[in-house]
Amino acid sequence: MQKSDRKPKFLKDYAPPDFLIEEVALDVALAPKAARVVSRLRIRPNPKVATGGKPLVLDGEDLTLESLTLDGKMLSAVDYEVKDGSLTIKRVPARPFTLEVITTCDPEANTELSGLYLSRSTYCTQCEPEGFRRITYFLDRPDVLAVYTVRIEAERDTAPVLLSNGNPVAQGDIPSTNRHFATWHDPFPKPSYLFALVGGNLAAVPDEFVTQSGRKVALTIYVEPGKEDRCAWAMESLKRSMRWDEERFGREYDLDVFNIVAVSDFNMGAMENKGLNIFNDKLVLARPDTASDGDYVSIESVIAHEYFHNWTGDRVTCRDWFQLCLKEGLTVFRDQEFTGDTRSGPVERIGAVRILKSNQFPEDAGPLAHPVRPPSFIEINNFYTATVYEKGAEVCRMLQTLLGREGFRKGLDLYFERHDSEAVTVEDFVAAMADVSGRDLKQFMRWYTQAGTPELACSLDYDAHAKTARLTVSQIIPPTPGQAKKEPMLIPLKVGLIGANGDELPLTLADGIPLADGLLEVTEREQVFEFQDIPTPPTPSLLRNFSAPVRLSTNLDPGQIEFLMAHDSDPFNRWQAAQTYATNLLTDAARDGGNIERVTGKKAARLAQALAATARDSSLLTAYRAEFLKLPGEADIARELARNVDTDAVHGAREALRKKIGEEIRETLTELYEANAESGPYSPDPESAGRRALRNAALDLLVATGDASEIARAERHYRDATNMTDSIAALAILSHLAAPVRDKALDHFYARWQDEPLVLDKWFAVQARAASSSSVETARTLLSHPKFSLKNPNRVRALIGSFIHGNPTGLNRPDGAGYQLLAEQALEIDGFNPHMAARLLGAFESWRILEPIRQARAKSVLQDLAARTLSTDSYEIVTKTLGDG
Ligand code: BES
Ligand code: ZN
Repeated sequence: MQKSDRKPKFLKDYAPPDFLIEEVALDVALAPKAARVVSRLRIRPNPKVATGGKPLVLDGEDLTLESLTLDGKMLSAVDYEVKDGSLTIKRVPARPFTLEVITTCDPEANTELSGLYLSRSTYCTQCEPEGFRRITYFLDRPDVLAVYTVRIEAERDTAPVLLSNGNPVAQGDIPSTNRHFATWHDPFPKPSYLFALVGGNLAAVPDEFVTQSGRKVALTIYVEPGKEDRCAWAMESLKRSMRWDEERFGREYDLDVFNIVAVSDFNMGAMENKGLNIFNDKLVLARPDTASDGDYVSIESVIAHEYFHNWTGDRVTCRDWFQLCLKEGLTVFRDQEFTGDTRSGPVERIGAVRILKSNQFPEDAGPLAHPVRPPSFIEINNFYTATVYEKGAEVCRMLQTLLGREGFRKGLDLYFERHDSEAVTVEDFVAAMADVSGRDLKQFMRWYTQAGTPELACSLDYDAHAKTARLTVSQIIPPTPGQAKKEPMLIPLKVGLIGANGDELPLTLADGIPLADGLLEVTEREQVFEFQDIPTPPTPSLLRNFSAPVRLSTNLDPGQIEFLMAHDSDPFNRWQAAQTYATNLLTDAARDGGNIERVTGKKAARLAQALAATARDSSLLTAYRAEFLKLPGEADIARELARNVDTDAVHGAREALRKKIGEEIRETLTELYEANAESGPYSPDPESAGRRALRNAALDLLVATGDASEIARAERHYRDATNMTDSIAALAILSHLAAPVRDKALDHFYARWQDEPLVLDKWFAVQARAASSSSVETARTLLSHPKFSLKNPNRVRALIGSFIHGNPTGLNRPDGAGYQLLAEQALEIDGFNPHMAARLLGAFESWRILEPIRQARAKSVLQDLAARTLSTDSYEIVTKTLGDG
């Protein structure tokens, strides 16, 4: 069924609802093929809208209507009209009234995983953004807030656990049947997208949290029976998140219970339903032998993210879906701050910037570019993007940078005070920040409305005579689809000047004003900042801590970048200097067709020595040192090249540099490998995880030498691993090598983990990422593996997702075989799960930066796709990706 038409919706067309729904009483009888939903709605005309005589139009999709009763009177077919996507009741009272709607839906047939569906044998729901309309007819929009009471009924044996939002109020058996019920009440008004229910045979892992005001909250994580021993980390993460939000932002939890349910089939990572978060089980379940350090970090941050939504999203929600960044950008910012406070600020910042640059920068530079608050969309599901999330988080961070931590906190307090239980806009959020700070944030608003990554060019000139340093800054915001011309932005630019001996120089602006925090505010297209009393030529450290989501270019020479690599007191910029040095080397080499000379020459040797110096420096955190041993990825290099990209040349250049570094600093790497050997039982704490990261990064470069003894070391590493972090790191390294060692390890891993879906996903993923001339064939073989299924999103992401995002030489094979694989699989998935398919098709977004032959292949595959019958979701992605050219 075509669920909606393909016409874009516009922010400027927003109109408040004609009706409000203030109370909802649901009675849900769960059954696999026909779940019956009785919905009693307390509705009234919206007093803010002159409704007079308008029909009531409810959203609904894939529902079977059984009956409609208005104020106790059954309606007949002439009173209403059911269409694809809506139910219209032609005449309703001009005063409050009660509507009872009885419908059924089919959880078993729900392959989209939106609405009420079955994951294995568990009933669960996903309503954001527009899934509630697949459960019952409703005003399914975020500005309609209601108080829900939910009664769920199901078979006692197959669904002993029945959950919904809010607090439990009643439960019991239904006499002389095999069924039972549970009733839940959520006192906080919420939009329908935050509704959830769960029914199934689940094991409970209980705990408790006492809030700062002394209220007891019962915490429970529900998982498939037998998985109880994998919940401890998620539970600890939850309690840490709850404490942190109290301490850092003064936000306390507000219900008597907080439940988390882990399910195996989930389109996304997790969902913040009020009091009942539903998670992809890969973001809950962890045990040292099944989950890697990376998994532990993800679990901690996603548990935090969904919990933080309780205030930023649930208590204060979005007026419409154009405002998505209001909850997502802000909540990502909050989870990043949490991780930074809980672990290491600089390491977290490096990670966040890596993600921003690898996911958001290409989006902002390609055909799908859109502002943090898009002005229009065809399918909202396509707008859960890196721009809304990651750039949205950067925009919040810039506000914090401009207002200071305390100012930002006050602004957030005011926002909650003003808008509790309301559905609001980005303007409301920024107004709170403006009001507490007394600042005019009008120019700042452009971060929400202008797409494209600003290009900031900085050059420093030193005047030895006047002892001044002049920093000239210019900004260009590149054109993006639908936005040819841009206005200059307010860009917080954090800087430092470093003296010849590595000392931080005090900053004084020309008029004698000290600049203690080094924070400049760039507001013009071109601007000059002059610093006084600079005794000798300084080296500038620019965009410290990545103070704005921009592309920076400077007039620094390689020697100065090398100097920053060793001396910058800003840990982020010290790392950035190493990345910049490596990237420059790699892009030069790749432009030259993968010229090995360039990356094996003097500069490469200097880079290697600088990396070794930091990696050895035991005064630094191990996790931070490990970041220095990770070279820019192939996609990062391609992005910097920006045009005429030959993915094989990029791969060749990077491999050659890895080999060179491995050879050049082999001794240091060997020492690091040996000194950081695992001792004692596994612990996921940051220092232990950092040690493993450092050791595995060293191993990776050692193996890059190609030396047989290093390959033997990797084999031993795999064999001796006592945890999943080491095991999967070794397997990933081995999977890039030629036949026997690789196959032996992969077979061993498969034999051990074939019955553990989340671990088996890793087995699919490492193979899909392994670069080789036959990687497309490898991916195809895996697609027909008996354990592969297109129906499970985690498995699809493990194999197809890893191939398209982690194997650039495979995806971009010059004969087009990689594109064909993607198109054909996406097309098949599109038939039953459009959101999933559209997400995969996003991998075509950078096709225009490729060299002509690959570009032509990608284009023809896209054109073939455009000529097919596609879902609205995939149609939007394919047509926008093709553009007009
Ligand atoms: N609200 C989203 C989940 C969601 C996204 C539901 C899109 C429906 C459509 C949730 O808060 C979220 O953002 N989840 C992320 C993980 C998060 C840590 C960034 C996800 O699921 O990927
Ligand atoms: Zn979120």
